[in-house]
Amino acid sequence: MNTVEKGKKVNSELKGKVIIITGASSGIGKAVALSLVKYQPKMVIFARREKKLMHTARALKRQGMKLLPIVGDIRNREDRVKLVDFTLKAFGTIDVLINNAGLGRASLFVDQSEEEIDELIETNFLSLVKLTQKVAQVMKEQQNGHIVNLSTSLVMLPAYPFAVYCATKSAIMTFGDSIRKEMQDYGVSVSTVFPGPYNTEFHEVAHCDKEKFAVYDTQKLANKIVRLLLKPKDNLIQPWFFSIYSWLSKRSKRFKKKVSNEIGDSILKAKQAKENELKIEKEQIKREKVPAIIQ
Ligand SMILES: NC(=O)c1ccc[n+]([C@@H]2O[C@H](COP(=O)([O-])OP(=O)(O)OC[C@H]3O[C@@H](n4cnc5c(N)ncnc54)[C@H](OP(=O)(O)O)[C@@H]3O)[C@@H](O)[C@H]2O)c1
Repeated sequence: MNTVEKGKKVNSELKGKVIIITGASSGIGKAVALSLVKYQPKMVIFARREKKLMHTARALKRQGMKLLPIVGDIRNREDRVKLVDFTLKAFGTIDVLINNAGLGRASLFVDQSEEEIDELIETNFLSLVKLTQKVAQVMKEQQNGHIVNLSTSLVMLPAYPFAVYCATKSAIMTFGDSIRKEMQDYGVSVSTVFPGPYNTEFHEVAHCDKEKFAVYDTQKLANKIVRLLLKPKDNLIQPWFFSIYSWLSKRSKRFKKKVSNEIGDSILKAKQAKENELKIEKEQIKREKVPAIIQ
């Protein structure tokens, strides 16, 4: 333990540790990065949108963080290689990998384009597996490390307009459970995080209006993920009361079906609300343009 400002005691186990966070340009990844500041690890942040990633980077730099921002697409092999190689060049090791980059797309399965299906599977699952393997090889060599994968609470209550998304996140859970024993033998912990709906850009990207259902405070989730880094465990379900849903869904098929379908219906409504909003916006833009043409 070491002392930080205002006399607060802070666990120093993360001090100087090298932590990679994918998808740190917004949402949960950004919140976790900012929450780690008081522990002073060395951080590598990764995402595609340069402006937003640099915004996170500047906020961290201002607080004196040792930091390496890398702009890249997790689906791109060269970008994944760059992420691992540049991290090792800059900091020498990789202690923690937070596989957070991901996205959802609300859509009825029969209507979903093949491009969107590819995007979901490649971003959420395939790239995660491939990056994890590269990092796991480094961690095996070091004989320590921690891999944290972001799944979703929808794994327990799968919602039909998120079918492919839910499938990728279930695969992440199974992947984590499957590699845990092997990684344990190398001194590496594997954790899976199951968040409920949080207030991030996720819903915008997924094309569904988040006003239509409850969303929780991302900062609280970030604090729990930081705690998970300090004290690794296999699974983290957040908010905590979603553990009750998880327990019930395992015990009652009827409960699982009923609640899953209700969640599915509300996601579909939220998607339709977003589509209507976009339609109205488009029509307004069209109407505003007409007088300009007449003039
Ligand atoms: N918010 C929720 O309700 C919720 C619930 C359950 C699970 N989750 C999971 O939590 C994780 C974080 O999501 P969030 O809620 O924080 O949403 P978000 O605000 O949209 O953040 C997603 C992050 O992933 C990055 N990303 C997406 N595709 C990428 C790609 N191809 N290459 C590199 N980075 C990419 C995005 O950065 P760029 O766009 O700049 O690349 C962004 O930084 C996701 O895996 C999501 O599935 C979220």
